[in-house]
Amino acid sequence: MVETAVPMEPASPVFFEGDLSLPDPIPEAGIEAAVRLMQDGRLFRYGEDRNSIPEAALLEEEFASYAGRKYCLGVNSCGCSLFIALKSIGVEPGDKVLMNAFTLAPVPGAIAHAGADAVMVDIDDNYVIDIEDLDRKAAASDARVLMLSYMRGHIPDMDALMAICTRHGLTVIEDCAHTMGAGWNGKLTGTFGAVGCFSTQTFKHINSGEGGLIVTDDEDIAARAVLFSGSYMLYAQHRARPPLEVFERHRYQVPNCSMRMSGLVAAILRSQLPILDDRNASWRKIYATLAPMIDVIDHLRMPVRPDMEEFIPSSLQFSFDGLSDNLIKAFLTHADAHGVHVKWFGNQNPVGFTSRHDHWRYLAGHNSKDVPNADRVLHGLCDIRLPAWLTPTDCTTIAAVLGEAMENALNT
Ligand SMILES: Cc1ncc(COP(=O)(O)O)c(C=O)c1O
Repeated sequence: MVETAVPMEPASPVFFEGDLSLPDPIPEAGIEAAVRLMQDGRLFRYGEDRNSIPEAALLEEEFASYAGRKYCLGVNSCGCSLFIALKSIGVEPGDKVLMNAFTLAPVPGAIAHAGADAVMVDIDDNYVIDIEDLDRKAAASDARVLMLSYMRGHIPDMDALMAICTRHGLTVIEDCAHTMGAGWNGKLTGTFGAVGCFSTQTFKHINSGEGGLIVTDDEDIAARAVLFSGSYMLYAQHRARPPLEVFERHRYQVPNCSMRMSGLVAAILRSQLPILDDRNASWRKIYATLAPMIDVIDHLRMPVRPDMEEFIPSSLQFSFDGLSDNLIKAFLTHADAHGVHVKWFGNQNPVGFTSRHDHWRYLAGHNSKDVPNADRVLHGLCDIRLPAWLTPTDCTTIAAVLGEAMENALNT
């Protein structure tokens, strides 16, 4: 009997209907607190009404406890918190500050804002700071500060890193914009260095549109930070602050830079702290579902993440392996047209949130040749936002879109 071949129907292309840029709504409790505050009109963080405790002071107290640190200060963005951290540890114009080459523009921006000079440290193939290069650059420069950015939530070997920082006498500021609740080997990020800085901008773990939180155990840094943020000498109203006599040491020396957090922002954030751990658990599940499905797509590579890295993936990164720019662009175009917007750090010009160290041309003395691996790795690096509401079916659809985008690119 002769078998007749049945012509195969071409599989219909998959399409992801969700919106990856859609954050979770603000919890009802936060909406109610914000409305109450608006009815009251007392939006400024420092009340002159002695009968109520300002929302910002309550948030700082609650966040200090969550983050495992003595002192906490709310400010108007994480970028400002990084600037205030630099100033509060005593960085002066012209000082050198080490930073990892994979981060977002507000990090070199904060260093420039403080009048300091950034010294770029290379990264490894898994997107974290290259610890040997840190050792070399710390020895070769007279930098006394490392601003360590856990960009996109990637955490280096903190035991090795802190040993090197101690050996070189480096003060560490941790940029925890993407690691609220994350840790290394049981210890929370934001508790390794002198200061931890967090973001509450919309695409972070808790969302108030704009906002930043600074944590520290050092009473002088804490008092200086409060004064820099612009306390109008009303610092006694803070609840996660050092004793008042510490402020006496600094109050005539520190300028008011007016970078305060508003009461409205604090009210919105307070409602999200109690659900943060659940939200973080959702992100971990989403990543555990999606990452292996992406890892098996030809020419895509997921980073290796050690067990000790307790990350919270509010986004997902992967690298193109051995594809030309034209094929990469074909992949991105197909994925975008099928509902999955993938950001690429390899663009010649900065687009959206993907600017690179070679785009920050205001950085005096920076030469891309000083960070050769960052150049190579960032050229192939992609980024997808992972909203916490993604379902397992959403993950399967996203992976299918990416698989088709690769097939399509390879057949062009
Ligand atoms: C790694 C990193 N650091 C710092 C910041 C600054 O945060 P903000 O936007 O709150 O200033 C961001 C913002 O997205 C970031 O991604």
